[in-house]
Amino acid sequence: AQRLPSFDDIPEKLSFAYLTIKDRIPQILTKAIDTLHRHKNEMFEKHGEKGIEAEKKAISLLSKLRNESQTDKPIVPLVEKFADTDIWNQYLEHQQDLLNDSDGKPRWFYSPWLFVECYMYRRIHEAVIQSPPIDDFDVFKESKEQNFFESQESIMALCIHLRELMQIIEHLDENQLKNEFFKLLQISLWGNKCDLSLSGGESSSQKTNVINSLEDLKPFILVNDMEHLWSLLSNRKKTREKASIVRVDIVLDNSGFELVTDLILADFLLSSKLATEIHFYGKMIPWFVSDTTIHDFNWLIEQVKYSDHKWVSECGANWENYVKTGRWVYHDHIFWTLPHEFCAMSQVAPDLYAELQKAHLILFKGDLNYRKLTGDRKWEFTVPFHQALSGFHPAPLCSIRTLKAEIQVGLQPGQGEQLTASEPNWLTTGKYGVFQFDGPL
Ligand code: F6P
Ligand code: MG
Repeated sequence: AQRLPSFDDIPEKLSFAYLTIKDRIPQILTKAIDTLHRHKNEMFEKHGEKGIEAEKKAISLLSKLRNESQTDKPIVPLVEKFADTDIWNQYLEHQQDLLNDSDGKPRWFYSPWLFVECYMYRRIHEAVIQSPPIDDFDVFKESKEQNFFESQESIMALCIHLRELMQIIEHLDENQLKNEFFKLLQISLWGNKCDLSLSGGESSSQKTNVINSLEDLKPFILVNDMEHLWSLLSNRKKTREKASIVRVDIVLDNSGFELVTDLILADFLLSSKLATEIHFYGKMIPWFVSDTTIHDFNWLIEQVKYSDHKWVSECGANWENYVKTGRWVYHDHIFWTLPHEFCAMSQVAPDLYAELQKAHLILFKGDLNYRKLTGDRKWEFTVPFHQALSGFHPAPLCSIRTLKAEIQVGLQPGQGEQLTASEPNWLTTGKYGVFQFDGPL
């Protein structure tokens, strides 16, 4: 696994992992503390003095956490009982066993990056659940909502595009339908630029109408397996019995603008009859700042439904109806907020693995999912995606991801080296993207 450098390890000091732990983690924690401060009155109104006490406690726990991370303290076990506490602590012990260090303790700056980053978000959650009665407070809710509101114009443009498409969808020929499918896939890809952990929790919304930029953005798609997705779904549509099910599962990433792009794609999949049901997976606890929880999912659909614009609000009403009638199903599972890579899923969460096996296609949104799909290892750029999945094949799957971490597989020989030479930060800015498919056709 990718290891964080020690302080003395000068050449690695500028690695993205190092800078995340050094700069972005304290920044995210400071923002969370500030959010709690600003909600003090609200907590008092809701819970009286107990609310104020709880807010103080959560703040002091988060300050302690910030201090631990900044001073490279050992990673300590979780203490508060929660559904995943034991699994986390076992994982921690396992990390400890892997270390041959003199003091034998994993530390913030000397542990696999994926693990430390996940651990930080899990500790934020612990600070909140240790502080009843505010134990359901989402320190990132405000940022997620802000991202949604700041992206209003693009969201409107997308919803209107979808409604217009719906009027003519029955009359589209194969090629036109495919083009529309590709458009919405690309919108969902670029929607992944808008995550709030990369920006350290600062606003990262979509202000321009992305539909008009798709052509210009095409050269930045480094691996483009969209054709495979089309073949898989369109062949199934042609050959299936009338009443049979075609299930597409979407492992969601960020709420706000990205979630809208995913819901638009999901709506299109049903309306075009390329799929008959869509299953979504979100996070059970606030995660990587902007990741979607069930509250975000419901909140966003509600917001779209109450839009002043008739067509936008019709989208929201349709989405609510899909949920009510079971054509859209939302699943929670604690596995998504564990530090494990996905090749461990069949062992750690066999029920979730079995659920995913029911899908005809699984779409994994975003960078963190990519890191977990590939185990966040320093693979050569040309290693096949299938190999990097290390045995994780519940169903045909596709990663839809903009690059925000120093990992990428499945490239052509020389492609990665060329990019490195011309643009040293190409792996981490979110400027590039992939549709990377694995599965039989
Ligand atoms: O790159 C910074 C980072 O925090 C990564 O650790 C993580 O993979 C990514 O942002 C989150 O991005 P996404 O929302 O696309 O998963
Ligand atoms: Mg995310």
